[in-house]
Amino acid sequence: MGKSSTEIQTMNSSTQMAEEISKKSLAEDTLVFEEVDSRITYPSYKSFDEFIDVERLRSLDGYITQKIRRRMNAQSDYKFYTGPYKLNDSVADRPGSRMIYLAYSEKPDSYFDLDKTEFWHPTEAATEFALLTDFIRTLPFKSTGRMLIMYDDAPREVPAHRDHVETEICHEFLWFRTNMKKPFYMLNHETGEKKYVDTYSAWFDSVNQFHGSDPSEGLSFSIRVDGIFTDEFREKIPKPEINLASTPSFWATVAS
Ligand SMILES: [Fe+2]
Repeated sequence: MGKSSTEIQTMNSSTQMAEEISKKSLAEDTLVFEEVDSRITYPSYKSFDEFIDVERLRSLDGYITQKIRRRMNAQSDYKFYTGPYKLNDSVADRPGSRMIYLAYSEKPDSYFDLDKTEFWHPTEAATEFALLTDFIRTLPFKSTGRMLIMYDDAPREVPAHRDHVETEICHEFLWFRTNMKKPFYMLNHETGEKKYVDTYSAWFDSVNQFHGSDPSEGLSFSIRVDGIFTDEFREKIPKPEINLASTPSFWATVAS
């Protein structure tokens, strides 16, 4: 059985406390970067459009939009949290965008459990967004962990941030969308160069570079699924000798 929004809401307030604690102790690492393979360039991301059914994904645009609008009326979804590793510490870390969890974890929320797929179970929203859930089954995952839709209906930015700073952890995930509305970018904080994602899907280095989203008019949304890629898919992925977290950028800039 899926969790109700009340249960998730309760889960979320304990998460917020944990986040506040980690924010105090860890945010000073925000601008500390570890070495990566010297051939990698940032900003960069690896599109998965060549590996997924983009037409099927695009066909879900109206369906997902309509279902999100219905939930917006109910105002039950909770706010997206950037985590403590924001480039500009003065901007809000709950910028206004909202999240719909398609899976919940049976464990106390930890960012490092995103891919512990055995802890994660479908929520009621996974049934509500059944066509999206069906699509996710076609992605190159052996099993899935956290799955969420992030949306905003007002022109608000998602501040540039890093997801975490553990360079030997490489989360296998896919960020994807059904339309091009969200101005989602990777950022090289040293050069100030932004690279806007111009594909329907991306796997990106969320550790050694910042990412975020500019404000945009109207409803915009994206989906992120974490999990474990299939063995067959993993064989395609070139691995850097250092800094596993840089794998998506290594693939994008060195091996492509
Ligand atoms: Fe992020």
